[in-house]
Amino acid sequence: MEFSLHNYVFAAMLVLSIIPFKASSNSLPDHKHHEVKSLHFTLFDHEIINKTTFVIVNGVAGAGFSTTTAPFGTLFVLNDPLKVTADPSSTVVGSAEGFSIVSSFDGLDSLSVAKLTLNLKKYKGAVYFIGVFHNTKTTEHPIVGGSGDFLFVQGYIATSPVSLTALNIIYKIEFHLYWPSYAGQIS
Ligand SMILES: *[C@@H]1O[C@H](CO)[C@@H](O)[C@H](O)[C@H]1NC(C)=O
Repeated sequence: MEFSLHNYVFAAMLVLSIIPFKASSNSLPDHKHHEVKSLHFTLFDHEIINKTTFVIVNGVAGAGFSTTTAPFGTLFVLNDPLKVTADPSSTVVGSAEGFSIVSSFDGLDSLSVAKLTLNLKKYKGAVYFIGVFHNTKTTEHPIVGGSGDFLFVQGYIATSPVSLTALNIIYKIEFHLYWPSYAGQIS
């Protein structure tokens, strides 16, 4: 008797814990897709000074140019290819258009704003980010929006330096993209 009562209570608790979940999904007929759609991949930004990235405004004296630093205030404007690997001969699948301004006195940080155009197999469009790069560390930058197949996209990119010679500056870019539920309602 006691055993079956326990079973009954357990079954009742189980039902109670399921009902609110069912009720909330049934009461939102316009939001059928509760799972967040996401996409994760890695690309490599290949920049070559005086070919894809240029100094437009010189910075002030202080930290000079080295493999990891540039003078405070240096304004770079870039239009770099995005490739599938760190190998310079690998396939180009996008581009990074933007600017960066050296923003720490030690010359290691740069405030960057860019549009990353992506021409992937299933997704074509662009994502936009703003952030501060560090020339020797991995840093995360919020994605502030997107266009094309990336309309309304949210998430972040994580950038890490791979090679920092003047002729071949390579950054790894990890993309972590998330579409909010309302993105799918736009036709
Ligand atoms: C890039 O061009 C500028 C101006 O001509 C020059 O001073 C600089 O040394 C060049 N940098 C590299 C890495 O070639």
